[in-house]
Amino acid sequence: MRTVVNSLPVFETERLMMRGVTLADAPAYARHFVDYAVVSELAATVPWPYPEGGVADYITTQILPHQGKDKWVWGLFLKDKPDDLPEELIGTVDLWRACTPENRGFWLGRKFWGKGLMTEAVTPVMDYAFDHLGFEKLFFSNALGNERSRRVKEKTGARLLYNAPKAFVNPAYTQHEIWELTKEEWRTHRAQKA
Ligand SMILES: CC(C)(COP(=O)(O)OP(=O)(O)OC[C@H]1O[C@@H](n2cnc3c(N)ncnc32)[C@H](O)[C@@H]1OP(=O)(O)O)[C@@H](O)C(=O)NCCC(=O)NCCS
Repeated sequence: MRTVVNSLPVFETERLMMRGVTLADAPAYARHFVDYAVVSELAATVPWPYPEGGVADYITTQILPHQGKDKWVWGLFLKDKPDDLPEELIGTVDLWRACTPENRGFWLGRKFWGKGLMTEAVTPVMDYAFDHLGFEKLFFSNALGNERSRRVKEKTGARLLYNAPKAFVNPAYTQHEIWELTKEEWRTHRAQKA
């Protein structure tokens, strides 16, 4: 039986605990997210400079009312932390029903990049999307030039479909790449990795 917190199942991977984001996570979320290295890779709809209190507003208005309904936002927490320190959100994986044209987004605090953590984090989310939420396919997107995000897609078996114009916080990006992963492709990929 899965543990469910705030309408979302709790996932454990080798190095991460993942659970639904709450308002209490806002300070840690802001500490790691409000960083141009992170935000510059996101769609131009994200404001920069990032407003004071923006993360708490975002959690309150854009995450909590939708959590477990048409959106699923898991906070990422390192399992390996000293017992006397509180758990600290270091990133999120966001999944949503509407294809906009993508169904997923993610970010991780800069000091945690390049250790395979996001590749680890998206795995239970895709299992859940295909096995429990009824998705038959998922679409992903990243700025053309965002090689880290692109690699996460490549490493998890997604297929590049096409490029299209899109504005990002970093004005040097002018296009995004759209990827697809079907349930069948994910199963095959999982079996090959096993
Ligand atoms: C994208 C992001 C979530 C990746 O997280 P991560 O935990 O570092 O990802 P992983 O370590 O699982 O995989 C990253 C891959 O990119 C590779 N990589 C890192 N820097 C790279 C570069 N400059 N060029 C090409 N590949 C690079 C890594 O080597 C790794 O691949 P490998 O395992 O084959 O070596 C993180 O960089 C991030 O939060 N960036 C800012 C926000 C963002 O881009 N969000 C996504 C928007 S679409």
